[in-house]
Amino acid sequence: MYLSSEGQTNQLGQWLGKQLFAGSTVILTGNLGTGKTSLSKGIAKGLGVTEMVKSPTYTIVREYHSGRIPFYHMDVYRTANHVQDLELDDYFYGDGVTVVEWGELLGKYLPEAFLQITISQAREGREISFETTDEKYQAIIDELKEAFSNE
Ligand SMILES: Nc1ncnc2c1ncn2[C@@H]1O[C@H](COP(=O)(O)OP(=O)(O)OP(=O)(O)O)[C@@H](O)[C@H]1O
Ligand SMILES: [Mg+2]
Repeated sequence: MYLSSEGQTNQLGQWLGKQLFAGSTVILTGNLGTGKTSLSKGIAKGLGVTEMVKSPTYTIVREYHSGRIPFYHMDVYRTANHVQDLELDDYFYGDGVTVVEWGELLGKYLPEAFLQITISQAREGREISFETTDEKYQAIIDELKEAFSNE
């Protein structure tokens, strides 16, 4: 799917934020500056988070509790080598939505099921794609394709 502007990245995130459920995990893959944080901000908005969402690059995880369910936002770019020290499962199998920038670096510490979103630079915009092995997330992907089919 092609996203021509940051606004479209945000819109897609908002849509996802409305669909995601407690205990869901989104793994965001994409080079530096492709829009992982932009998409995360949209997800937060869709969840109803009213706090300002900042990149968790230096804090590893930021938690937001003003939405309909908690939002846990991580960036593991700088921590991939010692993720075993983080209590990740408390987030993944918890009561909120967890979004992990650079999440593919977690390897064996990934949860059992997750929605994998890959973003790449494409012309002036971004190409975004979705993958999962789990039927709950597949249902979201199918609905998403339907919802955004006219764009
Ligand atoms: N669909 C789009 N088309 C064009 N530009 C976009 C699009 N979506 C986001 N952007 C721009 O791309 C940049 C993305 O920055 P962002 O911090 O979200 O990237 P990131 O993937 O989180 O980077 P990092 O790996 O450093 O965490 C912003 O400048 C934003 O305006
Ligand atoms: Mg980022």
